[in-house]
Amino acid sequence: MAKDQTVFLCQSCGADYPRAYGKCPACGAWNSFVEHRVRKQPTAGGALQFASAGKVPRLLKDVDATQEQRIDTSSEELNRVLGGGLVAGSLVLIGGEPGIGKSTLVLQVAIRMRGKRVLYVSGEESERQLKLRAERIGKMESTCYILAETALEEIFTHITNVQPDLVIIDSIQTIAATAADAAMGSISQVRECSAALLQFAKNSNIPIFLIGHITKEGSIAGPKLLEHIVDTVLQFEGDRHYMYRILRAHKNRFGSTDELAIFEMQHDGLREVSNPSELLLSQNNDGLSGIAIAAMIEGVRPFLVEVQALVSTAAYGTPQRSATGFDARRMNMLLAVLEKRAGFKLPQKDVFLNIAGGLRVNDPAVDLAVLAAVLSSNLDIALPRNIALAGEVGLSGEIRPVNRIEQRIAEAERLGFHKIIIPDGNFSKLTGKRHQIEVVGAGKVEEVFRILFGNE
Ligand code: TYD
Ligand code: MG
Repeated sequence: MAKDQTVFLCQSCGADYPRAYGKCPACGAWNSFVEHRVRKQPTAGGALQFASAGKVPRLLKDVDATQEQRIDTSSEELNRVLGGGLVAGSLVLIGGEPGIGKSTLVLQVAIRMRGKRVLYVSGEESERQLKLRAERIGKMESTCYILAETALEEIFTHITNVQPDLVIIDSIQTIAATAADAAMGSISQVRECSAALLQFAKNSNIPIFLIGHITKEGSIAGPKLLEHIVDTVLQFEGDRHYMYRILRAHKNRFGSTDELAIFEMQHDGLREVSNPSELLLSQNNDGLSGIAIAAMIEGVRPFLVEVQALVSTAAYGTPQRSATGFDARRMNMLLAVLEKRAGFKLPQKDVFLNIAGGLRVNDPAVDLAVLAAVLSSNLDIALPRNIALAGEVGLSGEIRPVNRIEQRIAEAERLGFHKIIIPDGNFSKLTGKRHQIEVVGAGKVEEVFRILFGNE
């Protein structure tokens, strides 16, 4: 009879020790240890049936990596973010805030994978709820089994019976191994279950999608450790008040983490958006002041995005400054540059900044459009709608070069813009390629204002 063993688990980072500490030696958290009993028997009975017999080391040069199996998920965008399809035997974590659309995304995959057997295990929704949702999404192309179950051991038994090509676990926080003597969703359960699932995926070569809810702070609930266990971490994000969602690879053992996909949530599921700029540019606001268009890059994709600013006289003593979708500290820095370098008097002004469509941007190349939008609103002069901007602004008002300038120019050109203002540092290095669009270089913010507003 195997004896139970006791370990102490840090609830903040998941590290384990034979005894508890006041302060976790791994992450420094205080009083974070909880006793955890581990049975010496293997936790996941079902997984063992797939265990391969003794492995032997192989010469690296003899390993054949060319025929790595990629499974078509039926979604071109998802395939791309995964690095060209789903790798057999991989464990893929899809993280996101509750309600963002994770279940919809995986259910869509589950019913659209032509000719495949899929087992969708849900600890969150009933069979009936899943059926209703599947009916909204549409045609059934696959053989999809639904299982409402939360016990890991049971799940493994059913997987063995169904023999699926893909397993979906929705979500890691709602399943529990009875062998791990801890509450569902606790760090020891998450750790135990995900380790068992990983072992199962590797031994059986069946890929698994694992859903994980993330907390407000943006980390996958509790377990940062989950990110280390799985092969791939995809993050599903977006503003709930807007319809589009961004799927980003944070970690990928089988591809690049630069890829990103955009979906639009519709009444009948998620639609792939292959042309993001068209979604992000609002159409009929000709002649409105305070709007500038930035040619930005997210991941590896160029988009044009609308930056909106509202500058008004402060009603109370202290002016308000607020930014949505843009770093507020960076906005304050840019406003300081405006005052200091370009002589604009903003101290008695409220400044509100918004990135249209609820997008959050981090690309420094958006700086120039932020300044242009603020000035346009301050002067109450609309910018011509066919001008795009790309450039990072430094503290002395210099415009610093940005990456992938050719892609930005090409995107603006493709969308029919007539002019794009870019940093001198990029302009001087442009290869001889002729552009339809007029490309203008600028070295200082003052020059940009002259281009945009003439000599006012
Ligand atoms: P869901 O996939 O349940 O989110 P998560 O699993 O990440 O918690 O999606 C929830 C939202 O999506 C819900 O508010 C309803 C909406 N929705 C649509 O707008 N259209 C649809 O076709 C579906 C299935 C859901
Ligand atoms: Mg869900």
